[in-house]
Amino acid sequence: MAGAASSPPGGRRRLRLRDDGVRSDTSAEQSKVEDIVQEVYNTFTANHHISQLVLHREKHLHYLKRGLRQLTEAYECLDASRPWLCYWILHSLELLEEPLPESVASDVCQFLSHCQSPQGGFGGGPGQHPHLAPTYAAVNALCIIGTEEAFNVINREKLLEYLNSLKQPDGSFLMHADGEVDVRSAYCAASVASLTNMLTPTLFAGTAEWIARCQNWEGGIGGVPGMEAHGGYSFCGMAALVILKKEHLLNLRRLLRWATGRQMSFEGGFQGRCNKLVDGCYSFWQAGLLPLLHHALYAQGDEALSMKGWMFDQLALQEYILLCCQCPAGGLLDKPGKSRDFYHTCYCLSGLSLAQHFGSGDIQREVVLGVPENRLQPTHPVYNITPEKAMNAVKHFLQQPVLSLQPKAAAI
Ligand code: FPP
Ligand code: ZN
Repeated sequence: MAGAASSPPGGRRRLRLRDDGVRSDTSAEQSKVEDIVQEVYNTFTANHHISQLVLHREKHLHYLKRGLRQLTEAYECLDASRPWLCYWILHSLELLEEPLPESVASDVCQFLSHCQSPQGGFGGGPGQHPHLAPTYAAVNALCIIGTEEAFNVINREKLLEYLNSLKQPDGSFLMHADGEVDVRSAYCAASVASLTNMLTPTLFAGTAEWIARCQNWEGGIGGVPGMEAHGGYSFCGMAALVILKKEHLLNLRRLLRWATGRQMSFEGGFQGRCNKLVDGCYSFWQAGLLPLLHHALYAQGDEALSMKGWMFDQLALQEYILLCCQCPAGGLLDKPGKSRDFYHTCYCLSGLSLAQHFGSGDIQREVVLGVPENRLQPTHPVYNITPEKAMNAVKHFLQQPVLSLQPKAAAI
């Protein structure tokens, strides 16, 4: 529960946790994080004004560019997520407006083509079984590159067959053959199918209704029906419904209430679920829900909608990312004391971008905290690549033939 107000270093009223005298492991952890964040804010504001906050662009670029060529042993555990590493790095670079040399782009295309499975879809590395998560990451990475070579890597016929092989009778998708079902797979499938012009009604029959069943009593969306609401799943569910044009199946106002409640009143960043800690990556997964909700509520003619900004504190989020999530040596992270990594670099920058750019209808409004050079490129709230790259991919694949699904072979 939020409670006692502390001095507002950034001009913002911060509310510290009040545990009403009932201390628990959870409240102790939360207080510890607030103490650390308070220390970071105090140290900064002792010598600077919040308007002097700087995004360490050059340091981040150095970290990202090196990661594209060489990874430390710490990344061994991500050997099944190599297309993700390509996507996290390429998207971070595009947000920072750093062009990709042609030779590097071509090397990434070739690498990803080795990750593509003869069955369709992409695996986590060359020769690995296909899986929907690296498939999503590979398609996004190739759309960011956006060259003929990149688009030609994607075998659309096989990709459609692969997506169809994962489709379940209740409308959901498996993450991989014989794997688990959750709302991530519906988003990954809808995202790659829509970018590559394969959004066939048959493939997604029942999917929107299945996703809507994942919205629970909290108002957020869980991994499967009946599970705890979480920012990662809520983003996937909502974004998939936007792609399928079925957002109205959700109770949007209840989702809005849940999502806005996940912005931490002291730290300014977001938590992933109720009573958990702030984490920089939710700057995208949670804050990304607000542009999607804005769009959906606007379409429904919701009168209470603000046209001045997203329905979260955009400055508070920027403050958290710039002050608490930057590694001085480059790269971004979850919270002070944690190590940098490419996942958090990508999603902290994506969240920073969302918090800087408001756009609805004809109204565009930028609010860049700190020095003007902190400005990032905008990101597409559904695909999380720049809107221009998403549009180019859609235009490119619209020129390709519409593919139809072969009926599934009957079980013997
Ligand atoms: C909880 O982790 C995290 C999850 C249960 C899943 C998160 C899902 C995503 C981030 C979405 C992934 C999206 C795609 C497209 C594959 P935790 O318990 O370590 O963290 P928490 O304490 O912050 O909840
Ligand atoms: Zn995280």
